[in-house]
Amino acid sequence: MAALTSTSSVLLLPVSTLPLPRGQLKAQYGPTLEAALRHAKPNDQSISRFDIAIILKDAVTSRSTLFDSLQHLLADVYTLICLIAAQHKVELDFPSGVDARVFLINLSADDKDVSPLTGPLVSVAALAASRRQYAHWRAPESLHSSDYSRRLQQLGESVKSLPEGHASAVLSDQPQASPAPDRQATRLHHRVAVGGTFDHIHIGHKLLLTATIFIAQPGEDREITIGITGDELLVNKKHATVLESWDVRQQRTADFIESILVFNNDVSSIRSVQHIDEPGPNGKIVKVTYTDAKNGSKIAINYTRISDPFGPTITDESISALVISAETRAGGKAVNDKRTEKGWAPLEVFEVDVLDAGSDDMEQDAKVEKTTFESKISSTEIRRRLAAAKQPTAAL
Ligand SMILES: *[C@@H]1O[C@H](CO)[C@@H](O)[C@H](O)[C@H]1NC(C)=O
Ligand SMILES: *[C@@H]1O[C@H](CO)[C@@H](O)[C@H](O)[C@H]1NC(C)=O
Ligand SMILES: *[C@@H]1O[C@H](CO)[C@@H](O)[C@H](O)[C@H]1NC(C)=O
Repeated sequence: MAALTSTSSVLLLPVSTLPLPRGQLKAQYGPTLEAALRHAKPNDQSISRFDIAIILKDAVTSRSTLFDSLQHLLADVYTLICLIAAQHKVELDFPSGVDARVFLINLSADDKDVSPLTGPLVSVAALAASRRQYAHWRAPESLHSSDYSRRLQQLGESVKSLPEGHASAVLSDQPQASPAPDRQATRLHHRVAVGGTFDHIHIGHKLLLTATIFIAQPGEDREITIGITGDELLVNKKHATVLESWDVRQQRTADFIESILVFNNDVSSIRSVQHIDEPGPNGKIVKVTYTDAKNGSKIAINYTRISDPFGPTITDESISALVISAETRAGGKAVNDKRTEKGWAPLEVFEVDVLDAGSDDMEQDAKVEKTTFESKISSTEIRRRLAAAKQPTAAL
């Protein structure tokens, strides 16, 4: 994992229950997030890590059941970060900007539960035991005196309290879209897949990857397949000269996943990495396995080079769930058509939101910044800017 630097920080945010409508979330967390994001911004060309730990109460259910409301929450928090960053000219995932990563705290988890491999939903005890070396710990004032908050202060030096929003304010006059009902399905998944290019990781990728790790239910060994498109399929992409190579995309994806999944004070002691390079489709794999030292339970993550839109989902029958974004819904259907043809059970498909700046309840300022917002969640736009920076004379 990339070492936490002198500017890394963690912000605690409380959520009482889910679902939380977007307008209410904005009123409640906007001021806190805005202040924290501006503090987090580095003064040089580096990129600061900015972790956000959202505290969930009453999450006493399975991950499949919680999935829809949880992914909405993640999507809304990431969207709010993008909006605030656009308004205040804070770069995201770009030099002299901020690398925001959201994970969750399960406040219902037992105080003795220090299991290091339940991220992105972790117990207070495991987070405290991970001894992550954040330089700054931040929280709105209302959290400072809570018991768990005091236990987490060892994660970094606390700075003065951040401003608070209003829990009861609802900004939007528009009727809220009613949240998706929690699934009736109680099927638990231990083998989950996702696919993508993952070039220059941004917030859209982070949402997709976090949802993928989340849906794999702990309790037995888990196996996750992250299909990453091979370089040969990307030669016609725009600004291809600054595309990251497969190896770099794999490493950055793995670094992100480790940061939201593993909460252990010595990650390298529980991690093993295997490089497999065999001929044929899906033959190149970096397999990263983490083992819970207490009870031996494992989570293995295959970073697999894929050369078609299916990857291992149509060659490995044991995979049972697929995570997609609404944009790639057709791909999910294509996978299941192929599996059905083979006489295999279809995958249960879990969909994450496509991030957008919203339209109805957006303030005028935010509308002006819509383009900036979109540039923060587009690999093509990130590459365009990087390519321009390399050739100053050709820039804009
Ligand atoms: C949160 O922790 C409780 C207690 O350990 C557990 O029963 C519950 O399943 C956890 N929530 C999720 C969504 O994993
Ligand atoms: C190992 O511990 C984790 C976390 O407490 C738990 O979810 C899992 O069921 C345990 N696994 C085994 C094999 O006992
Ligand atoms: C993960 O990689 C290992 C090693 O190549 C392979 O045996 C296993 O089948 C892969 N798992 C999935 C789900 O693709």
